[in-house]
Amino acid sequence: MRTLVHITDIHFGKLTAGAMEKMEARIAEIAPDICTVGGDFTMRSRPREWIGARALIERLPGVVLAVPGNHDLPYVNLWERFRHPYRRFKRYIHENPEPTYMDDEIAVMGINTARPWVPHYTWKEGAISDAQAAAAGRFFRQAGANRFKIVFAHHPFLPPPDRPRTYLVRNAAAALSVFEDAGVDMILGGHLHLAYSGDIASFHTHIRRPMTCIQGPTVTSSRLRDREPNGFFHLCIESGRAEVTTWQWSGSDFMKAGARP
Ligand SMILES: [Fe+2]
Ligand SMILES: [Fe+2]
Repeated sequence: MRTLVHITDIHFGKLTAGAMEKMEARIAEIAPDICTVGGDFTMRSRPREWIGARALIERLPGVVLAVPGNHDLPYVNLWERFRHPYRRFKRYIHENPEPTYMDDEIAVMGINTARPWVPHYTWKEGAISDAQAAAAGRFFRQAGANRFKIVFAHHPFLPPPDRPRTYLVRNAAAALSVFEDAGVDMILGGHLHLAYSGDIASFHTHIRRPMTCIQGPTVTSSRLRDREPNGFFHLCIESGRAEVTTWQWSGSDFMKAGARP
């Protein structure tokens, strides 16, 4: 059995009071084998926000894998944003913005969907290139048939059920076909600060393989959307199946969804 915690949209610089300490306490109890962090470590990519992010990365248990979010790119310095968009992430978090992990039960790959610019009225949305999708395909094919295969990224591959026009990862449809061929089982995301899950095929009707998409809310930021509370989830993966447990902020602690404070 493997245990994986997924947190996303931490947003140092705009934290919910008390949430960081409680998140760390609950994750320490879960004692995951792997922590995946889905980007948006910072609000404005300021040095003091990155220092907080670095310290957190060092405190998290297990193998820590992370990808950048749109908020992690330089915000004020446009020269750096376009010339070295991931330099700050690489300096403070880890050198590879597309980390992988594989053991005898699971294979995990982070995809960097953050971009300096996308053709949208804001620059906050994300994309996956054909080359990135192909690299993921190669990685997951190496993993063979028996490992549970997880992609995680900052931007969503599936819209919320009530918002089908949500801007998704650019080139998602083509990338999902590659994921399908390579046997991907699950996709973890963030960015929208909304919690929902569903089968990829419920929206992308060209996909036949069941691939579950789980979108996390912001784990610690007071930058809430639609009053969606802070939260995160953990997976227990065994024999090719994943059981998902959701944790929600009650105002004073993270509780398993459905539990009462
Ligand atoms: Fe965010
Ligand atoms: Fe984001």
